[in-house]
Amino acid sequence: MSQTDPSLALKALTDWWGEMGVDVDETQIRALRKAAESRTAEAPAPKSSNEQPQRLPRHLMKKTHADWVNEAKTLAADAQTLDALKTAIEGFDGCILKESARNTACFDGVQGAPVMVIGEGPGAEEDARGLPFVGKAGQLLDKMLAAIGLSRKENTFITNVNYWRPPGNRNPSDEELELCRPFVDRMIELGQPKLIIAAGGVAAKSLLQSRVGIMKLRGSEHALKTPGGYEAPMFPIFHPAFLLRRPEEKSRAWRDLLNIQARLEELS
Ligand code: URA
Repeated sequence: MSQTDPSLALKALTDWWGEMGVDVDETQIRALRKAAESRTAEAPAPKSSNEQPQRLPRHLMKKTHADWVNEAKTLAADAQTLDALKTAIEGFDGCILKESARNTACFDGVQGAPVMVIGEGPGAEEDARGLPFVGKAGQLLDKMLAAIGLSRKENTFITNVNYWRPPGNRNPSDEELELCRPFVDRMIELGQPKLIIAAGGVAAKSLLQSRVGIMKLRGSEHALKTPGGYEAPMFPIFHPAFLLRRPEEKSRAWRDLLNIQARLEELS
C-alpha cells in the first residue's frame, strides 16, 4: 500500500479549508508542516529509482529573509526577457507562500503592451490555473478594461505584486511582498508599459511603499520609478473584488477609468 506524504496531506487539507472560507491559523499550520516535512526528510530514501528527487523545503535551506531578497534581486536582474523572468519566479523558493500554493501565477496578456495592470495576488481560481485575474474579480476587471478599449488579448499586460496564493486568501505580508518586489520591478522594466494601473489597496500601497489607503490614493496619478530607472504614471483603482461587494462605488471606479483613458490618449 502506498503511503501519503504527510506534508502533502496537510496541504490538501489547508487548501480545502481555504476554499471553504475557513480561517486558518497559519502559525500552527506552519509548525505542523515543518514537523511533517522534517519527518519526510528524515525518512529513508525510497527504494524505487524512478521517483523524482525532492526539493529541500525553504525552512531547511538556512537562508535569512535578507538572503532570499538578495537572491530575488539577482535572479530578477539576470532575466533579460519576460519569459526568462517567469522561469526565474517559478524557480524561486524564497517565499513561504509557494509551499502551500498549487501554482505560480506570474502574468497574462500581451508582453510589451502599453498598459500594465498590477493586482494583489492569486486567489483560488488563479492558483488552480497559474494565471492572474481569471476568477470572478478577473471577469469584472476584463469588463472594466473593455469599457475603455483595453483587453488582455490586444493591449494589456496583467500581473500581481505577489505570485502565490496566501492560505485562506489573506493579504500577503510585508515580508512576502518584499520578496516579490524585485520581480515586480523587473517586470515593469522589461514590459515598459506607458501607464500602470494598480488594482486595489494592497497593490497600490505596496507599489508606492505608502501607508495611505486606496480611498485616498485612487482618483489621481502617481509616479512609479523602478530601481533600474524606468518611470511610468500609475493610477490606483478600486479592486474589482471590492466592487463586486460594493457596487455603489462603481461610479467612482468609472471616473477613474475615464481618467486613465484620457491619460492614455495623451501618452500615445
Ligand atoms: N485578485 C488579484 O488581485 N489578483 C488576481 O490575480 C486575482 C484576484
